[in-house]
Amino acid sequence: METLDWKSLPFGYIKTDYNVRCYYRDGKWGELEISSSEIINLHMAATSLHYGQEAFEGLKAFMGRDGQVRVFRWKDNAARMKTSAQGILMAEVPEELFHDAMVKTIKMNLRFVPPFGSGASLYIRPLLIGSGAEVGVKAAREYLFMIFVTPVGPYFKEGFKPSRMIITREYDRAAPLGTGRIKVGGNYAASLKAMDLAHREGYSSALFLDAREKKYIDEAGPANFFGIKNSTYITPDSVSILPSITNKSLQRIALDMGMKVEVRPVPVEELATFEEVGACGTAAVISPVKAIVDDESGKTYQFGSNGEPGPWSKKLYERLIAIQTGELPDPYGWVEIIK
Ligand code: PLP
Ligand code: COI
Repeated sequence: METLDWKSLPFGYIKTDYNVRCYYRDGKWGELEISSSEIINLHMAATSLHYGQEAFEGLKAFMGRDGQVRVFRWKDNAARMKTSAQGILMAEVPEELFHDAMVKTIKMNLRFVPPFGSGASLYIRPLLIGSGAEVGVKAAREYLFMIFVTPVGPYFKEGFKPSRMIITREYDRAAPLGTGRIKVGGNYAASLKAMDLAHREGYSSALFLDAREKKYIDEAGPANFFGIKNSTYITPDSVSILPSITNKSLQRIALDMGMKVEVRPVPVEELATFEEVGACGTAAVISPVKAIVDDESGKTYQFGSNGEPGPWSKKLYERLIAIQTGELPDPYGWVEIIK
């Protein structure tokens, strides 16, 4: 523990002291159980293993200068987990259960909340899986909801330094009427090959296009996409992307900083007109993008100069982090202090 180097933490798994679990059986949720084991006991015929009944969330807690721990927009994550459960016929986790489990897990692992100023945070990972056994393709009757936490640094190793991404036309992450709008494991399985290819070619991420027409930008791997021009924050409207809580927050902050906001389809050619581009998400925060390569045409779109983040991206990033860490007041009611 003493050896954790907070300032250079990767986005990876580090064992913490406790996690919490709760089982849904006979039509109701049981008691929260505290565990110090990293292992779960799972029936070999559990639907999560065979038919992908699995959804997860990702949110963060931050240590403030005042020594208080703040969690960002957990209610939105709880709501999204309900939507994910509805999407693949799993038992829904009630908001109070989500909150209880989250607060307990954070409080029992306080020594893993990275210190103020380290740039790192405590990543909170709620997980909901079909634990009941079935062999026919159907929804399980039993579910396991659990939360673990792990301290993390930036998702893309470049952190807030602009990186390069590549448009992929060979793989789709999600179908228009598929599960792209919910946070289920299958979407991530579908993205692995494209992401691996991108990484092996030196890009920080693959950029997925809309699966139907391959004309519009969908998502930047595990993050939403945005472009900025003429003081306008532009982000895709698409049926196959995850509604990002970070993106919603940035839209609000952008408006309050005097920018305009457009949520609409973003054609690939429009990349040529953006002054700044970035990926955003809980893990990614804002990850600025300096170049996007189109794998089909070989064309490269460049953004900004000197490989530095653009001025709007920098302002948005700083304002978001300041609200999350308590350096700026939170006029939106996004932050809950863990008591
Ligand atoms: N898109 C995908 C596919 C993601 O996995 C995530 C991460 O949660 C996001 C976007 C960003 O969403 P949020 O800002 O809610 O973390
Ligand atoms: C997040 O931003 O929380 C994510 O879920 C991204 C990734 C780790 C799946």
